[in-house]
Amino acid sequence: MRSILWVHLFLDCSSLSPELTLILNPSLEPALLTTADGSPTLVHPTLHQTYHSLHGALTESKIVFIKYGLEFVAQSKSHIHLLEMGFGSGLNALLSWMYANENGITIDYTAVDTYYITAKFADKIDYQITNTDIIQFNELHKLEIGVKKMMSNHFNLLKIEDDWNEFAPKEKFDLIYFDAFSPESQPELWSIDSMAKCYTLLKSDGVLVTYCAKGQVKRNLKAAGFIVDALPGPPRKREVTRARKI
Ligand SMILES: C[S@@+](CC[C@H](N)C(=O)[O-])C[C@H]1O[C@@H](n2cnc3c(N)ncnc32)[C@H](O)[C@@H]1O
Repeated sequence: MRSILWVHLFLDCSSLSPELTLILNPSLEPALLTTADGSPTLVHPTLHQTYHSLHGALTESKIVFIKYGLEFVAQSKSHIHLLEMGFGSGLNALLSWMYANENGITIDYTAVDTYYITAKFADKIDYQITNTDIIQFNELHKLEIGVKKMMSNHFNLLKIEDDWNEFAPKEKFDLIYFDAFSPESQPELWSIDSMAKCYTLLKSDGVLVTYCAKGQVKRNLKAAGFIVDALPGPPRKREVTRARKI
């Protein structure tokens, strides 16, 4: 009887939550799309959300996370403890690794995600920007979950499989890349409670960056205690957000 129930569940996933659908179908893969700047993005297999702006995945990551986040924090720190909410395709991690090597800073990069793409799938993603012997995009995806590894002299990576709502690290961070799907699709991840969690996870002068500039999200960040800066966005996006803990 129990096995019949399982078979039924496997065959009819239409009424299940996206999370359960993924657990029952671990072989489900994202779709790949090309964005306006020529770089690829993914579409989540059950949430059906794109991982980046369709107006340019690489452009968005470089401006929002690297320029406004990493470059900003690197002005005053040469060893950065960085937390990424939503590892996704690994693009932000890749660009951060490159930045660390090129600028001689050290990054301890912790990523949290509920769903990691496989190294086999990552082979299909070509950002056309990993041309050194040291930095290999695929190495980010080959790294076992839960194992911290020194990827190069300047970049340590730890991938954690956990729901953001459950995630409770002991460490504090200098910088958070908050890269969840949109507030429309995952409102709980952008709530005051979630922003307060980010605030708690940051060191006293810590910084959060996100592509989202929605009024309610900025109000939630302010309610959590952050000073919020609206910064010029990438193509077709007026503003993005940097939030500072003072
Ligand atoms: C916008 S994508 C991240 C893109 C990524 N930063 C990159 O560079 O490609 C959002 C990510 O959040 C993850 N995610 C969604 N809900 C989550 C949750 N509740 N807890 C942790 N991760 C979650 C998804 O699996 C997805 O990888």
